[in-house]
Amino acid sequence: MPDTLRLTVNGEACTVTVPPRTQLAEVLRDHLELTGTHLACEQGVCGACTVMMDGRPVRSCITFADACDGAVIETIEGHRDDSVMARLRDAFSRHHALQCGFCTPGMLATARDIVARFEDPDEATIRHELSGNICRCTGYVGIVSAIKDVIGQRRTEGGHAERPAPAIVRQPASFRTFEPAPTTEAPAKAAASAGSVSAEAGRTVVRREFTLAHPPAEVWVLLRDPIRVAPCIPGASVESLDGDRFIGAVEIRFGPIRARFGGHGTFRNDDARQEGRLSGEGDDKLGKSRVRGELQYTVAPGASPGTSRAAVELRFEIEGMLAQFNRPELVTGFVDYILGQFAANCDVVLAGGEAGPARRLSVFAMLWAVLKARFRRDRN
Ligand code: FES
Ligand code: FES
Repeated sequence: MPDTLRLTVNGEACTVTVPPRTQLAEVLRDHLELTGTHLACEQGVCGACTVMMDGRPVRSCITFADACDGAVIETIEGHRDDSVMARLRDAFSRHHALQCGFCTPGMLATARDIVARFEDPDEATIRHELSGNICRCTGYVGIVSAIKDVIGQRRTEGGHAERPAPAIVRQPASFRTFEPAPTTEAPAKAAASAGSVSAEAGRTVVRREFTLAHPPAEVWVLLRDPIRVAPCIPGASVESLDGDRFIGAVEIRFGPIRARFGGHGTFRNDDARQEGRLSGEGDDKLGKSRVRGELQYTVAPGASPGTSRAAVELRFEIEGMLAQFNRPELVTGFVDYILGQFAANCDVVLAGGEAGPARRLSVFAMLWAVLKARFRRDRN
């Protein structure tokens, strides 16, 4: 049954009838011909489709139209007469903050939201807030400079330039905004994990525990051996081993971004305590991202006889295009997804089978698994 929606788009009331499961981006582009809203990943990752809904930025590619009945939408076309947007457009131009311009409507929407919400943000805050918008050709230096420029203009003008309010402030009763919640359920079929994600001394620190259906002695024999354990980690491979040194790689697919981190590291195992430590670093030559970190792992008896409880602590920092993986919100789902796959593969190997064929780690697959888990949880 088609849904009939009442929307206010760029100040004009309109009614559209669309099939169920239509996304807001399709309504804007295909029904209202507002093609300034761009579509790229269509998975909620790149931010190209960002528009303002009831004063907040939303990903229109993953916003169901039937959740928007009664909403007030501002697209890039609707900001034509907005004075803050005029300053941002001018600053983007002066700071060379765009080349092809594909990401620019989404960037401008997010930039306006930053200018509206922050009095005097430092560069790290601006970059953090921008990390949900991907620019594939220009880079972020000019974009950050443009935002700083507009905020600087406001400060120089003092009381004459108030911090702008978000574009719209009405909240329709029928629309419940999405509030991120901590993931409490591992998306893959492995046992539940527990732990925390935090930022410490410039590094992201992830602590997790998970259960394996095999006794600690067997699990430790597997975990202590990089050659055997590497195929259990999605996308990972060990290319050579020399004493306590290894050379290896991890492949990641992030929509249009393909990253292959090649690197090296060392590891040390304490068999008596069944604990180990691995440290390493690597870079992705094409994407110019760089990662370095440490992993500590221990194995102990599980709650049930014949099972194990494995605890891991991962400390890392990423620079470059994939730096958004430093964000705790994204890391939480990412780590749970990897651990779910990893624990399931370990159990298969310990039962005498083989881990699935080496695959690149698809972040979209991970995001989809996280969203499915959330959807199931919300329905229960
Ligand atoms: S197209 Fe919507 S986030 Fe990429
Ligand atoms: S300007 Fe080309 S993708 Fe950002």
